[in-house]
Amino acid sequence: MPLRVVVAGATGVVGRTLLPLLRKRGHHVTALVRRADGVDEAAEADDVAVADLLDPSGLRRALRRASPDVVIDQTSGFGGRDRDEGLRRTAELRERGAKNLVAAAVSVGARRIIGQSMAAAYRPHGEEVLDEDSPLWTDAPGCWGAVVRGLAAMEEALLTCPDIEGVALRYGALYGPGTHYAPGGAIHTRVRGSGLPLVSDGVGLTSFTHVDDAAGAVLEMLTAGEPGAYNVVDNEPAESAEWLPAYARMVGGPAPVSLTMDQARAQLDWLTVHQLTEQRGATNFRLRETIGWRPTWPSWREGFAAMLNLWPG
Ligand SMILES: NC(=O)c1ccc[n+]([C@@H]2O[C@H](COP(=O)([O-])OP(=O)(O)OC[C@H]3O[C@@H](n4cnc5c(N)ncnc54)[C@H](OP(=O)(O)O)[C@@H]3O)[C@@H](O)[C@H]2O)c1
Repeated sequence: MPLRVVVAGATGVVGRTLLPLLRKRGHHVTALVRRADGVDEAAEADDVAVADLLDPSGLRRALRRASPDVVIDQTSGFGGRDRDEGLRRTAELRERGAKNLVAAAVSVGARRIIGQSMAAAYRPHGEEVLDEDSPLWTDAPGCWGAVVRGLAAMEEALLTCPDIEGVALRYGALYGPGTHYAPGGAIHTRVRGSGLPLVSDGVGLTSFTHVDDAAGAVLEMLTAGEPGAYNVVDNEPAESAEWLPAYARMVGGPAPVSLTMDQARAQLDWLTVHQLTEQRGATNFRLRETIGWRPTWPSWREGFAAMLNLWPG
């Protein structure tokens, strides 16, 4: 059945991928953007509504006009080059923006709200690959702790509101067109310039998610599945000792240099060392079991190659 859907973050890497998929399924799509020129209305959405997630009254007005069945939040603050600033803006969006969006969605009688969370937010412990019942690392150091607290606040707002079905999709490291891993993106540039080293034995795990799979999971969860949190990640969590040299080869960069833990602590920021050495991966078992979801890109190996136009090669 066609639904009325509002997409916040319609101009972002996931939002841009999602809009045509929604319209192909026959849904009526309102793109919620901060600037009216953000979306080509005719090509990508049925309607455009202008509002900022941090402005509760403007948001409520925009949603009243759109009258959605489902509200989707694909906003983030990670778009720029300054990572700490991106972390700070994302923490604020998750903490305040998501609460505003839940309140606005409830006030217009929307049935479901789908928010964007992160599978890298689990506290590292025990198992190497974690499921949705693992605790979020809300007391992690520095900016990362602020982001995880923002995510926890967002998930609480989504998942405990009795007046709407809340779904939190916990993406892995997003890659694909327009992301930091694509040509010209921050990680692409850093790896080509030998700026991302291997640290110690490189056993930190990353679960990756292609933007096609992030958007595809949202599409399925419009109506399927119970409210709750779901990891949206590929099938192959990878140690940095594995994915980083492979990615460097694929982008035509030099082999990553190796640092000891002491050298890394002196030269790199805490979050990078954490990601490369102790971060855990995530399992997509819950989403597979509950709605039969399967990633289009089950492995980052093929997904990276496709993003870089090396596949099939
Ligand atoms: N999403 C994640 O969890 C995550 C994590 C780590 C890294 N990354 C990386 O970050 C890069 C960007 O990906 P992304 O899709 O997350 O972000 P993005 O492409 O920068 O999209 C963010 C979206 O959020 C919107 N937005 C930001 N603040 C808003 C506000 N206050 N109110 C309403 N809308 C707002 C932006 O709108 P405007 O057009 O108005 O700016 C844009 O549409 C990718 O390279 C990805 O690899 C993402």
